[in-house]
Amino acid sequence: MIEISQISINHMTTPLGFDLDNHLHIEFSVNSSKPMTETKKRVIIKTDEVVYDSDWQNYDNNFFDFAIELEPRTHYTVSVSVQNAGDEITKDSFFETGKITEPFSANWIGNSNKDLQNTLLRKEFALDKEITSARLYMTGLGVYEVYFNNEKIGDELLAPGVTAYDQVTQVQTYDVTSFLQKTQKHELLISLGDGWYKGNFGFDGGQENIYGDRQMAIAELHLTFADGTEEVINTDDSWQTTSGKVTKSAIYYGEDLDDTKEITNWEPAVIIDHSKEILHDRLSLPLKVEEYLPVKEIIQTPAGETVLDFGQNHAGWPELFNHEPAGQTIELQVGEILQNGNFYRDNLREARAAFKYTSDGKEKWVRPHFTYYGYRYAKVTGNTKPLKKEDFRSAVIYSDMKTTGGITTNNAKVNRLLQNVIWGQKSNFFDVPTDCPQRDERLGWTGDADVFSATAVLNMDTYAFFKKYARDMQIEQNAHDGMLTMYAPAMGNGSGGAAIWGDAATIIPWTVYQAYNDPAILRQNYSSMKAWVEWIGKNTSTKNLWTGCFQFGDWLSLDGENPAMPTGKTDEDFIASVYYYYSTSIVAETAQILGFSDDAAKYSKQAKAIKKAISNEYITATGRLSIDTQTAYALALAFDLVPNEQKQRVVKDLVTRLGKDNNHLKTGFVGTPIVCRVLSENGEHKLATQIFLNEDFPSWLYAVNLGATTIWERWNSVMPDGSMNPEGMNSLNHYSIGAIMQWVYQQVLGISSQTNGYQEVTLAPQFDYRLKHVQGHYESSYGDLQIEYQLETDEQHTIKLNLNVPFGQQVTVKLPRATGEVQLNGEATSLPLKLTGGQYSISYVPSSSYIEYYNIDMPAKDLMADSELVEKLSPLNGVFGFLQDQNNLDTFGGSSLIEMNTMLPFVNISDEDLANIKAVLAETPLASERKFLNEGRTI
Ligand code: BGC
Repeated sequence: MIEISQISINHMTTPLGFDLDNHLHIEFSVNSSKPMTETKKRVIIKTDEVVYDSDWQNYDNNFFDFAIELEPRTHYTVSVSVQNAGDEITKDSFFETGKITEPFSANWIGNSNKDLQNTLLRKEFALDKEITSARLYMTGLGVYEVYFNNEKIGDELLAPGVTAYDQVTQVQTYDVTSFLQKTQKHELLISLGDGWYKGNFGFDGGQENIYGDRQMAIAELHLTFADGTEEVINTDDSWQTTSGKVTKSAIYYGEDLDDTKEITNWEPAVIIDHSKEILHDRLSLPLKVEEYLPVKEIIQTPAGETVLDFGQNHAGWPELFNHEPAGQTIELQVGEILQNGNFYRDNLREARAAFKYTSDGKEKWVRPHFTYYGYRYAKVTGNTKPLKKEDFRSAVIYSDMKTTGGITTNNAKVNRLLQNVIWGQKSNFFDVPTDCPQRDERLGWTGDADVFSATAVLNMDTYAFFKKYARDMQIEQNAHDGMLTMYAPAMGNGSGGAAIWGDAATIIPWTVYQAYNDPAILRQNYSSMKAWVEWIGKNTSTKNLWTGCFQFGDWLSLDGENPAMPTGKTDEDFIASVYYYYSTSIVAETAQILGFSDDAAKYSKQAKAIKKAISNEYITATGRLSIDTQTAYALALAFDLVPNEQKQRVVKDLVTRLGKDNNHLKTGFVGTPIVCRVLSENGEHKLATQIFLNEDFPSWLYAVNLGATTIWERWNSVMPDGSMNPEGMNSLNHYSIGAIMQWVYQQVLGISSQTNGYQEVTLAPQFDYRLKHVQGHYESSYGDLQIEYQLETDEQHTIKLNLNVPFGQQVTVKLPRATGEVQLNGEATSLPLKLTGGQYSISYVPSSSYIEYYNIDMPAKDLMADSELVEKLSPLNGVFGFLQDQNNLDTFGGSSLIEMNTMLPFVNISDEDLANIKAVLAETPLASERKFLNEGRTI
């Protein structure tokens, strides 16, 4: 038995009208009951005739990648065939091109009144012949919906998405064949709103008319009849126009919708002289309702408000089933959190974020059209009847990406945290990666996207999403001499050029390429990746370092000497120089991949020079860093800034630094994603896990304990008493801190590395008794790699793993402390394990248990915090009476740095007592792990 379960074309399923750049990347996943022998693959691309045939090739991997000249408005069948062990199978898929470079014969049209809030454009026509196919190629500015005979075409929302509209306005293609077969008389209706294009939007309260001052649309309806004839209906002055029922809308504003408004006064549309050069087939994935959230609870607040709780912070819009009499206006305002039980939304700043609906008296579902919101709660006013939960729902809207990864553990709080990370992505992958979905911002901040990208590529299939964003960045770089603006599209704000934020120009294409093994994003962005490092070179004040430019530093870190400065303590020029080095190395590697060998040599030489300059400036000859911050040590380790023989010293210095900081993070955007990673990679996984599992401020689980359902912008966006941090910049739905999930995938679940788009995976989980049961998966183009493990509770502390490896993938399993026998599917085997397609169960007894026991070198404070241990020790010596006195503990051991060993000289203790104390410690598991001893199940 052999089957092909999925075919993707440029990382999409049956793409319609997308810009494929005359290059196809076709991936397929195979399932076969027989092992791989003489496996072969073939793809044929056909229109009426064969336009490409790869011929039979050895199955070296699961994709085809080739250039091909594509014709506009053409349907292509993609037939993938696979042979394995005498079986053969073929599966078909298809794609269809848009207009590519074919010019539009249609014209931009609009209403003579530029100030209409909701321009309607319509064309009525009759068809007297049977139709075989109908395609609509169109776009609208700012945002539009399109209807045939009152029925919305497609499930895409807020088309054409957000771009620098003056450079690129994306064209959508719709297959409307089924609409046109229903009736003889038709009405094609386009409804326009202001959106990002014209409505108030942008940094610092925003401004209107960023890209233009009037709504307009352009459309071509291509009809093919059964008799073989064709006809095109274009937007032109035969269309009619009037004003629709949306009386005001904008992204931050929300929407006012008046259903009592009569749609009358149709008048001829006017042709608008607007560029057609800007029209390009789409790259954006569509924005869609991906799920609905029901109302969890209707709350009557102490202040007397009626508030709907959807139970989950998210982005989208609320929908209501209308029961109101004609003329009644019902209003929904949204917010992320309650304060003292009351509705709150000060952190939305200038965003009005409301939906006002004036009823026409008809019972029906009602929704906004040209806006979106970020919220968990909605306050309802204006209703004349008591509210019922079932009359409301919230549409969760984001770019249409497939979920590819997920992880659960035995720790419910960790599970909530990981869910929060995914919700952060769902809420902010809104055509561009935004910083937040709620306040008057929602911009494609480059730095935020940069730090989260390595996590994002694991959670969801983000290739197409990031490829579009990479072009958004490129457009801004082209306009700014290679400099990347702070956010893309720049919305008319030309400032930028800071490290991390600007380095998104190189890091995002590189991260995406590495995750999916498709160089299309590198081909698209190579010139701008190069332009970025060139721009740094031209603007730095010190050769081979990056100094003297505006920087965000380790944004929102907690170690800044001036608490008013969110840039932190780590020298900004050090951070910038490290990223200058990283970006330059990426350009060198990209040049190598794309075959530009001169560039490869040039940039790799330059990268070396930068690395040397960093080392001269910031690191002593013996490996001491001149900057004593968590982030600085983490950067030195993550980017190999010291020679291997000095690494352990830097690790030790990082561990000491963390100890002084009470083993809590003080990091911001730069350090947060990498501290746990460098610890785990350098033998300190236990400490990394401890930091990850901390529950007090600052920590990931601190937010979970305070009820977070998404990742917050700040470590303390909410204070311990539940009150909002009064800072003006305080969102509860920012994803950067969620970048820790990459560490969970790599170090805890164990997908530690991969090559060729997950064709080869190294699975090397690092075990810790506090995360004794872990289950997760990652679905690459080969299929779903499923991993589950458990540290069993039997006497020998057996470790068991279950794996499901898709066909065509090779997984090398590396197991720690596996010096004895390892069982694979019940039979003894040797390490390392190399597994291909199939289900496996593995078990072994680790050379030493993962339960950690106390010892005398541990901080006195930690030992004394364990009442069971203190109880066991109390008969032994007065030392424990002494230490149990909080004053003594605070004086001598208040810092978690002071070890029990150091405390003992302060009291008289006999050698015998000391030996007894050591013995008790050695047989007592750490409190944090003891609680799991008898908990857990067998897998
Ligand atoms: C945004 C960020 C962004 C930062 C840069 C904020 O207003 O919300 O997340 O990266 O500014 O300073």
